[in-house]
Amino acid sequence: MRADIGVIGGSGLYSLLDDAEEVSLTTPYGPPSDVVTVGRIGERSVAFLPRHGRDHRFPPHRIPYRANLWALRSLGVRQVLAPSAVGSLRAEHGPGTIVIPDQIVDRTSGRVQTYYDAGGAVHVSFADPYCPSGRAVAVSAARAAEWNTVDGGTLVVIEGPRFSSRAESRWFTGNGWTIVGMTGFPESILARELALCYTTLSLVTDLDAGVEAGEGVTHDEVMAFFAQNVVRMRTLVADTVRALPEERTCACGSALDGIKLPFDLP
Ligand code: ADE
Repeated sequence: MRADIGVIGGSGLYSLLDDAEEVSLTTPYGPPSDVVTVGRIGERSVAFLPRHGRDHRFPPHRIPYRANLWALRSLGVRQVLAPSAVGSLRAEHGPGTIVIPDQIVDRTSGRVQTYYDAGGAVHVSFADPYCPSGRAVAVSAARAAEWNTVDGGTLVVIEGPRFSSRAESRWFTGNGWTIVGMTGFPESILARELALCYTTLSLVTDLDAGVEAGEGVTHDEVMAFFAQNVVRMRTLVADTVRALPEERTCACGSALDGIKLPFDLP
């Protein structure tokens, strides 16, 4: 089974695909979060992987990130879309806003964040963590569907599973960062280390604790908001998939050019 485009997302997005078949994979890093569903959206072949597992068994710090990206690449995937729920660090970007970030700050700790931890040093460029083509397509699709859309911004990824304190959250805002989540790293760097295009579509579910109007976020609030928006989000992901370029002209596919790798990529 093969697919060009991978979607790593919440289980509500599962019914996105036509003619879907499930494939159970394993990788040198163990099994991915769940079986991968391979099917079509229009003319495009798509592999869907529920990030937390279908029963939501993996908290953000336990997700098998390396296995997930490896599994998608082994199916032929070269472009990855990563919808996720985030908190907003700015009152003007309230719940229901879609942010397509162009930068990331890693505030995780203790997560394995590389495939290249033996057999020689591999240093990939991460100055621009997201695929410029994927970002442009996602922004257009979100605007066309009349989402309140923010083109660019910085996603800060916290270790979780707890939410941030007010002081942490105010500090993030003070640094000029835009949104806060728990899964965008190391997913983004691992995609880059496999020379994949990677684009995040972040749905704001709450105002984080340090935002003036924010009450202090709760788990139920995030889950309920995401559930209310899942159908609309599914449409946005499908629209973005249909509009992704068939040929990659961005630099993402050249991320490893000239670097001697300690193993062959799948
Ligand atoms: N995911 C959704 N809302 C969040 C928040 N406020 N902080 C971190 N991750 C989140």
